[in-house]
Amino acid sequence: MIMNNQTVISHFLLLGLPIPPEHQHLFYALFLVMYLTTVLGNLIIIILTLLDSHLHIPMYFFLSNLSFSDLCFSSVTMPKLLQNMLSHNQSITYTCCLIQMNFIIIFGNMESFFLVVMAYDRYVAICFPLHYTSKISPKLCVCLVVLCWMLAIFHAMLHTLLMARLSFCEDNMIPHFFCDISALLKLACSDTHINELMTFIMGGLVIVTPFLLIIVSYVQIVCSILKVSSTQVIHKVFSTCGSHLSVVSLFYGTIIGLYLCSKANNSTAKETAMAMMYTVVTPMMNPFIYSLRNRDIKEALIRVLYKKKISL
Ligand SMILES: *[C@@H]1O[C@H](CO)[C@@H](O)[C@H](O)[C@H]1NC(C)=O
Repeated sequence: MIMNNQTVISHFLLLGLPIPPEHQHLFYALFLVMYLTTVLGNLIIIILTLLDSHLHIPMYFFLSNLSFSDLCFSSVTMPKLLQNMLSHNQSITYTCCLIQMNFIIIFGNMESFFLVVMAYDRYVAICFPLHYTSKISPKLCVCLVVLCWMLAIFHAMLHTLLMARLSFCEDNMIPHFFCDISALLKLACSDTHINELMTFIMGGLVIVTPFLLIIVSYVQIVCSILKVSSTQVIHKVFSTCGSHLSVVSLFYGTIIGLYLCSKANNSTAKETAMAMMYTVVTPMMNPFIYSLRNRDIKEALIRVLYKKKISL
């Protein structure tokens, strides 16, 4: 390790996405629309679950918690990306960079944990409908939500503290649109072995385990549904589970590809495009995928809007 003649870096440059200058405006408009859709879609779900008493059941508490983490997750990265594209000022201070990384890990993890909790909730509701209220009690809901928060915060703190030990020398260009943990590790000029090891172990724990748990829950759901012979029910459950599984796979697939199987042959452009998938596309799709086929949400929307009209 070379410790002498080392300059302390006070800020980084976020180089953003590899977009040719003539297409900047087009992509700016696209990202703005995507971000506004994310905010609107998730806010609607949060507000509906707050206002409508019919939605005061565990499933919608979890859904609104998922929406909350989606909203925060994309708000940690998107406004900065949009601002950078507009102002061409790509600098971000060292502290802000670590804070951004910290929050990305918190909300990314929360999203992952809530997807598991929701899959478990559906599993109990479909496979043990008679025991649902005793198994998923309000107390358990609160415990699960608190546990998700604590795990996410602990995991983020671990990575942030490990990152804060590292020193950064001359190279301060991050070829990414946010302060990504693996992009930062590539820039560090001190020993990053522990960081890489922890990224791999913890990443394996908090990503692969939830993903497997979700798959197991859905497999159980499908198995128990196949015993019921009504084709209509089978069709409905398959289309719902299929759409849930497709966003879940997009989310976990890109993260596993980036943090657990990366190295060597991945180009940076491909990596940033993949990062777009889990930081921008999944948070935007979640509210639609989880509520589009859902009659309760549509009815709640009508009730809330109708009540507004009467009170006016
Ligand atoms: C998250 O879930 C908890 C416990 O079920 C609930 O009380 C809370 O309102 C939810 N939070 C949000 C933002 O929806």
